[in-house]
Amino acid sequence: MDESMMTLRRLLTVHDEAIIEAGTAWVRETAAVDLAERPVSETRALVAESVRAYAALLLAGDPRPRDAFIERVTTLRSSLRFRISTLLRGFFSFHRALEPILARHSVPDHLAFDILRRVDAACFEAASLTADTYARKLHDVVDDAQRELVRREKLAALGGLVAGVAHEINTPLGVAITAVSLAQDCLQELSDAFEAGALRQRDLRDGLGRAREAAGMALGNLQRAAGLVTGFKQLAVDQSSESRRTLALGAHLHELLASLAPLYRRGPHRVDVDVRADVVATTYPGALAQIVTNLLHNALVHAFPPTNVGTVRLWIDRADDGQVELGCADDGVGIRPELLRRIFEPFFTTARGSGGSGLGLHIVHNLVTDLLCGTIRAESEPGRGARFTVRFPADAGA
Ligand SMILES: Nc1ncnc2c1ncn2[C@@H]1O[C@H](COP(=O)(O)OP(=O)(O)OP(=O)(O)O)[C@@H](O)[C@H]1O
Ligand SMILES: [Mg+2]
Repeated sequence: MDESMMTLRRLLTVHDEAIIEAGTAWVRETAAVDLAERPVSETRALVAESVRAYAALLLAGDPRPRDAFIERVTTLRSSLRFRISTLLRGFFSFHRALEPILARHSVPDHLAFDILRRVDAACFEAASLTADTYARKLHDVVDDAQRELVRREKLAALGGLVAGVAHEINTPLGVAITAVSLAQDCLQELSDAFEAGALRQRDLRDGLGRAREAAGMALGNLQRAAGLVTGFKQLAVDQSSESRRTLALGAHLHELLASLAPLYRRGPHRVDVDVRADVVATTYPGALAQIVTNLLHNALVHAFPPTNVGTVRLWIDRADDGQVELGCADDGVGIRPELLRRIFEPFFTTARGSGGSGLGLHIVHNLVTDLLCGTIRAESEPGRGARFTVRFPADAGA
């Protein structure tokens, strides 16, 4: 041990109480947060620990007490609410307290200077380590909070969805029940008249007609309820269990469309595929298939009135920012602005009467944002078609 460190050791042995006392007073006076409410003993214990950490490092070359101290002060939950400057003041306090003691005990200038220089170097290192550790831990807290928020938001969305499903399914089931009981009444009337030998041919024809109508109504509504359940099941598919694959997207889109031919081959409309860039991506083929199917199906179902013949264009491209772009556009009737705002909402449909559940685009939206980690945009001007643009990273969900 050289002369300055021997001097420091002597001073610490004799005056450590005074150093800790002076350091504590300085920290409490100058802290950026109000320490008046905290007990002095708490500040004092922390200053004492930092002095011991300096002693171990400077006199014995042992950084462990310092590292343990940093770990501890940045782990206290309340210390994450402290200003970082207050934490760091604990380290600076050693220099502040030591300086007058060096002067008072007439330590020769060159030794005092060397001691303070080495204390400062140790202080600088400790301050950097503390700031890094503090920032990292604060970051973890923010990350946790963010995850928790997302989880809660998803739960709330799920709650709303379940309520929506119950409500949506209730309506067709209610209608079906009414219709079936109507049919039952008709059949009962017929059977009563028959038993009484009073069944006229006209009553029979009327009765059977009404019963058939009611049965038809029940069937339609039950089919609608069944459709909702199917849509809801798709929504609940465990997305994390789907496997990722590396695909050449252009070729994949062509294959996909060939398999979807039954959707459009017999109809009058044209479906074109445009591979603008040869993009290879590691992604979820099941989700892509579902997205393309829903977008294409929507265009074929909603875009063209019965007498119009239209074109649906699908494309794959690489966007300026390097993401994959998958698009679907039609030249049909388009979507009015007040509806465009709502198309991704669950159960929003303009085709309720003809079997639409309003889950199609909601499912697409979920797959794009949750699974592909991407975005989807819908643009439309009434009378000028609708255009859906999906963008996602080429290594989606990695
Ligand atoms: N290409 C399009 N052209 C015009 N309107 C569209 C188009 N795509 C979607 N829409 C509108 O958006 C609404 C919501 O679409 P979404 O796919 O969510 O439900 P849906 O098609 O009505 O029912 P589902 O998909 O469950 O059968 C549709 O009812 C329709 O009004
Ligand atoms: Mg749809």
